[in-house]
Amino acid sequence: MLKNLFKLWRRNEPKLPETANEEVLLKVIDPARLPKHIAIIMDGNGRWANQRGMPRAYGHRAGVESLRDIVKLCSELKIQYLTCYAFSTENWKRPPKEIEALMSLLVEYLNKEIDELCANNVRVNAIGRTEEFPYDVQKTLNMAINKSKNNKGLVLNLALNYGGRTELVEAIKLLGRDIKEGQLSPEAIDENVVQRYLYTSNFPDPDLLIRPSGDFRISNFLLWQLAYTEFWLTPVLWPDFRRIHLLQALVDYQCRERRFGGLKET
Ligand code: IPE
Ligand code: IPE
Ligand code: MG
Repeated sequence: MLKNLFKLWRRNEPKLPETANEEVLLKVIDPARLPKHIAIIMDGNGRWANQRGMPRAYGHRAGVESLRDIVKLCSELKIQYLTCYAFSTENWKRPPKEIEALMSLLVEYLNKEIDELCANNVRVNAIGRTEEFPYDVQKTLNMAINKSKNNKGLVLNLALNYGGRTELVEAIKLLGRDIKEGQLSPEAIDENVVQRYLYTSNFPDPDLLIRPSGDFRISNFLLWQLAYTEFWLTPVLWPDFRRIHLLQALVDYQCRERRFGGLKET
């Protein structure tokens, strides 16, 4: 009954019913049909700060609070993988001061949160060319990855100096090398083989992609992996993104029919 109401809402209403608070949404969500893997483009920090007449770094700091909230909820819901886009290969185009602020926030976040993450059984992982990050950032990241490596709960996968095209280029290079060394024949290449050369070789593709802040684009995120991912876009800026928004996205996700190019289930 409630589910039908939400279906109707999805088609006709830009906003969820007023009464749909966290408690209601949690009741509507079917724990058996949650996405295994959620990906988030954490966007809108700069605009959020701008609206308040503050420097962009203020928005990035506020965005960390959202990340904390969302990681906790994913963990509670027993989501298996959460991939968060934190720094793209194109973000180097930003002013050095902003880049520095982002790097030091990352270090601060990991140092401050690692114990809590471990207490919640979260395993930290990173994808992207992190070897190009400053040494202290790499060191802290490795600390977090190592400390949490035996945790069996949520995998918090941080996309850092990540670019979908760079990932594909790297995969193709490795493939080429293996062919040259006689370990792989070109005829043997299929989708599964390509997948094995990606940063995400150990992860299932995301079931749900969330992009806050109102932009309708991929921005070089997980180009291969998003082939059949469900998108959920919201004008809410990332620093304002809270548990309620993720729950709304999950309800919406569960109202959809994923066909993967096939036909409606009968
Ligand atoms: C996302 O927020 C954080 C990073 C890209 C690192 P932005 O900094 O892109 O914020 P907007 O899009 O300018 O509002
Ligand atoms: C995408 O946001 C990258 C991250 C959130 C880390 P951007 O703000 O960099 O993307 P564009 O420039 O708006 O496409
Ligand atoms: Mg942005």
